[in-house]
Amino acid sequence: MSKTAANSLIEWYLKNKRDLPWRHTSDPYKIWLSEIILQQTRVEQGLPYYLKFVENFPTVAELAGASDDEIMKLWQGLGYYSRARNLLEAARAITTQYHGEFPRTYEELLSLKGIGNYTASAIGSFAFNLKTPVLDGNVFRFITRLYGIDSPIDLAITRTSVMELLNEWMQSTAKPAALNQALMEFGAMQCKPQNPNCQVCPFVHDCYAFKEERISELPVKGKAIKVTKRYFHYFAFIKKPNTMYLRKRGAGDVWQGLYEMPMIETSKPIAINQLLRSEDYLKWVSNCKNIDFRTSKTVLHKLTHQHISVTFYIVNIDSPLNLENSSIFDIEINTVNTFAVPKVIETFLHDEQFKQH
Ligand code: ADE
Repeated sequence: MSKTAANSLIEWYLKNKRDLPWRHTSDPYKIWLSEIILQQTRVEQGLPYYLKFVENFPTVAELAGASDDEIMKLWQGLGYYSRARNLLEAARAITTQYHGEFPRTYEELLSLKGIGNYTASAIGSFAFNLKTPVLDGNVFRFITRLYGIDSPIDLAITRTSVMELLNEWMQSTAKPAALNQALMEFGAMQCKPQNPNCQVCPFVHDCYAFKEERISELPVKGKAIKVTKRYFHYFAFIKKPNTMYLRKRGAGDVWQGLYEMPMIETSKPIAINQLLRSEDYLKWVSNCKNIDFRTSKTVLHKLTHQHISVTFYIVNIDSPLNLENSSIFDIEINTVNTFAVPKVIETFLHDEQFKQH
């Protein structure tokens, strides 16, 4: 019998794979951790976080026992913080509903918070040898190029077509875990978005996109994502010698559960004098006589659906802020390190030397 495409791919993988720690384990907990960390995150960036989590929380029960703040602090800098909150919620569900044993079926995995088709398939195959193919952006690219699928990738029909092919591949091999790792690795390392190295590709003679010179056209992108612009104005109020102010961000918005300085959000750029006449700002400084105000910097923080222009102001004040009707609280500046903050704020605190690394 001639070699199947799946087995050719696995052969390529065994020769070319990167040596990554989660590829040496079949512990569903560690696999789950790695997959959540690697969503929307490059391997080089995610690896130290993976190692840190495994070291601090070697089992799902230990993770379930952690506090929200502890997890957010450890996650700090990775972005997409809902992943960290979901991680904790799922760990607690596994502890209470499954007595600390990871569920072993695709449907049960899917029922856990933060686990979608892709992650359930990855855990199912790597930990339990389920024949559940993974379909992420890398796999989409490889398969749509190989077979010449040119309907936009955000249509359900495109996903269904690719899934059907992957299921056929899966049925043709006895190694579901290796096939899924190979699919991801091939998309990431070989069938890259730009300038894939087709000269050394094992599929070059079968590849539709190569033969038809359509590599740069495939996969066909979906509709452009609508991006909202937001303007965040952060006030680092400093009351000498050692006081500054923070609050915790609430539910239903970016950076939920992280800490930030007092802020005003606007939907358009705004002049500083307008900001200083706003109700919140005037209330905060209502007890202050001497105010030394300076603009630090503006940075653009781009998320998938929103672009946030973040401006920092440093405001030295001579009396405590008026915190009536607000969730703002004061801290000692030298404890700011212990709070989980968004990356942009961490960089600001570091650059302005409020925070030591
Ligand atoms: N990205 C997502 N999952 C991955 C894995 N298991 N190995 C390498 N990169 C990945």
